[in-house]
Amino acid sequence: MERLAETKASRKGEDPEKGQRKLRIEELKLTEKSHEEVILGSLLCKVYLAGDVEVEVLRGTNLIVEKGEFTVVSGASGSGKTTLLNIIGGIDKPTSGKVVVFGEDLSVEDEDFLAAFRCSNIGFVFQSYNLVSTLTVAENVGFPMEWIGRPVDHIEKRVQELIAMVGLSSRSEHFPFQLSGGEQQRVAFARALANNPPLLLVDEPTGNLDRKTSSKIIDMLQMLKDDGKTIVVATHDEGILKLADQKLCLEEGKLVNLDD
Ligand SMILES: Nc1ncnc2c1ncn2[C@@H]1O[C@H](COP(=O)(O)OP(=O)(O)OP(=O)(O)O)[C@@H](O)[C@H]1O
Ligand SMILES: [Mg+2]
Repeated sequence: MERLAETKASRKGEDPEKGQRKLRIEELKLTEKSHEEVILGSLLCKVYLAGDVEVEVLRGTNLIVEKGEFTVVSGASGSGKTTLLNIIGGIDKPTSGKVVVFGEDLSVEDEDFLAAFRCSNIGFVFQSYNLVSTLTVAENVGFPMEWIGRPVDHIEKRVQELIAMVGLSSRSEHFPFQLSGGEQQRVAFARALANNPPLLLVDEPTGNLDRKTSSKIIDMLQMLKDDGKTIVVATHDEGILKLADQKLCLEEGKLVNLDD
């Protein structure tokens, strides 16, 4: 715990020797259950194999996200932002290194565990929305609740609440192809919030949107931040960067803290 405190002090710029944040979480006991840290990533590497070609995306990077913290990850296209979010969300595994989320080491868990863990703990808003094209708006939003066996009356009430929250009540019986990109993005947010997860991973939520629609998404992120959610967003949007408690940038496979 001493090292943990040392690292946290260092992250807050309180280290008198260094005077800057230094992530040294490779020295931490990552299997230890923690109440403060929601995400601990240690020496994360990801290498994709495309045919004979190895694409080295993450090169031994570290990450700490504390409870209630709003973290922004920026970086050039192809730098690995989506890859990192997928690893944090248990959708993909690191080639090496550890990722511990709410005290669970996701790098060693099997797909059944990960699917159940994600459904209750993590809301994922994908870069390409990933709505199910054969389901209506209401069915898309209700799906994560059905998956964990919530009663039908609870699902119906919550679906209506969530769809109203994102301003799409009049569209609940429509299919994704009948919606604009911004509307699909809002459905993706509603679905991500279905089981009221404490952690939200949001991939370029305003990447394809006009300024007015973007500002609605930013207001929603502000509200979720005020609500105490832990949020990691991959983005370059200045409006979202203003909400950040921690600003990171992926450069050559490693996260650099932009506040250092
Ligand atoms: N399944 C895969 N197989 C091979 N290479 C992949 C695979 N998935 C991603 N990559 C490569 O990994 C690198 C990082 O991709 P990633 O999607 O994480 O980048 P990104 O930072 O999210 O980019 P963008 O800003 O364009 O969304 C890219 O070079 C990409 O081509
Ligand atoms: Mg991406």
